[in-house]
Amino acid sequence: MTRRFHVSTFGCQMNEHDSERIAGLLAADGMEATDDVETADVVVFNTCCVRENADDRLYGHLGRLKALKAERPELQIAVGGCLAQKDREVVRARAGHVDVVFGTHNLGEVAALLRRARMEGPVVEIIEEYETYPSALPVRRAVDHASWVTIQIGCDNTCTYCIVPKVRGREISRRMGDVLREVEQLAADGVSEVTLLGQNVNSYGRDLGSGQRSPGFADLLRAVGAVDGIRRVRFTSPHPKDLSAATIEAMAESATVCEHLHLPLQSGSDRVLARMHRGYTAERYLARLGAARAANADLAVTTDIIVGFPGETEADFEGTLAVVEEAGYDAAYTFVYSPREGTDAAAMSDEFVPAETVRDRMGRLIELVERHALRRYEARVGGVEEVLVEGPSKKSPTVLTGRTRQNKVVNFPPRGGGATVRAEEIGPGSYVDVRITGAAPHWLRGEFVATVAGARRVRTRIPLTVE
Ligand code: SAH
Ligand code: SF4
Ligand code: F3S
Repeated sequence: MTRRFHVSTFGCQMNEHDSERIAGLLAADGMEATDDVETADVVVFNTCCVRENADDRLYGHLGRLKALKAERPELQIAVGGCLAQKDREVVRARAGHVDVVFGTHNLGEVAALLRRARMEGPVVEIIEEYETYPSALPVRRAVDHASWVTIQIGCDNTCTYCIVPKVRGREISRRMGDVLREVEQLAADGVSEVTLLGQNVNSYGRDLGSGQRSPGFADLLRAVGAVDGIRRVRFTSPHPKDLSAATIEAMAESATVCEHLHLPLQSGSDRVLARMHRGYTAERYLARLGAARAANADLAVTTDIIVGFPGETEADFEGTLAVVEEAGYDAAYTFVYSPREGTDAAAMSDEFVPAETVRDRMGRLIELVERHALRRYEARVGGVEEVLVEGPSKKSPTVLTGRTRQNKVVNFPPRGGGATVRAEEIGPGSYVDVRITGAAPHWLRGEFVATVAGARRVRTRIPLTVE
């Protein structure tokens, strides 16, 4: 009988994409994907360790699988990704029923390791670095019309709070030709939206080439944006210190590059930014953002902010509020500082901010962020926006959900203004114009106007229920 696998993903977009590769490898090895953990023969956890709660969640999940493994000893449990890279042998010390532990640099071996574990018993295999980026691994994409594309792995920065460079290794850019070939292939397969992935995309290419000028992120952005069939290009994350005029220009000049910039702030206090090793001041950050906004009309801006970095004073925190006020973000991901063993900031333990103070600051920050978000979302009401349809909304099968070029979620019934459209014409991957009629801090409501002329229609695989 065909063995069935289930992959659970924690963490960022890189992990989500790595999980698609893990799934691709297991499918290529003859297994079948299942949503049901209870009946799966192989359960893979692709893990994150960026904050402590990510660790705790994984061990919680593993604990719950212990009983299942006792009932069905042939069930194989594999743990890969960043936490596996960090914890190594500790994973099996804390959860002895795990069969395979693999790291961020050897996910290509997952199928072979599972086979080896069936013959020889538990395997822990972690390697330190990739030689080169494995471009040729199979991928089982989560959706048909949009895709992640890795342009760079690892990170050469030294943000003092961050564990990522330790578990993802040094920065390696993929060759531009390899990236373009992948994007062309994706376009040929019907993908119209790509998201370029790297921890620090602005430094793309620094490690490539010698002699001739090596390609930079701006060149890559223009080249990807020009691939026939690609209608939307996104990227994450650019580092504010490396956001160059060339990148800002390339964004503005490539019609396919979406009007959305995720520019992680982390803190608005120069003192904290220096202690974080971020390499910019609040003023410089706002100047880069201003330049991006000046060149790109109608730009949505999102960010990441850490609250309670060691030694953060009330005045430092107020500096963060001041930048948030000035930047007026469309959305912000806010994180409580979490000490990660082995990072420089974790050694500043005598300066940890009391939990109660952090809670209070977080509340004030979220209140401000939401206020701006609502204002930014409300400003869309009345306009018509192009929406890439994702499918029926989770809450109601008669409502469609999709995203605008600014990456805002829009929910809309597939009719409005007198027009109705057949469900199969607006399956996942279709582009439609939607008039925005309502707003909340995290989503928009709208009504269908028309399908977008010239956009390719993608056959729907998910049945839509339209009354
Ligand atoms: N390379 C990306 C970020 C990757 S981690 C970048 O530089 O933008 C994603 C986010 O997690 C970071 O932007 C930061 O806000 C948050 N983060 C990272 N380490 C953290 C820690 N130790 N505690 C709390 N938040 C953290
Ligand atoms: Fe971490 Fe900084 Fe690298 Fe981002 S740029 S992954 S926050 S070290
Ligand atoms: Fe991403 Fe978490 Fe690893 S944020 S890079 S999955 S530590």
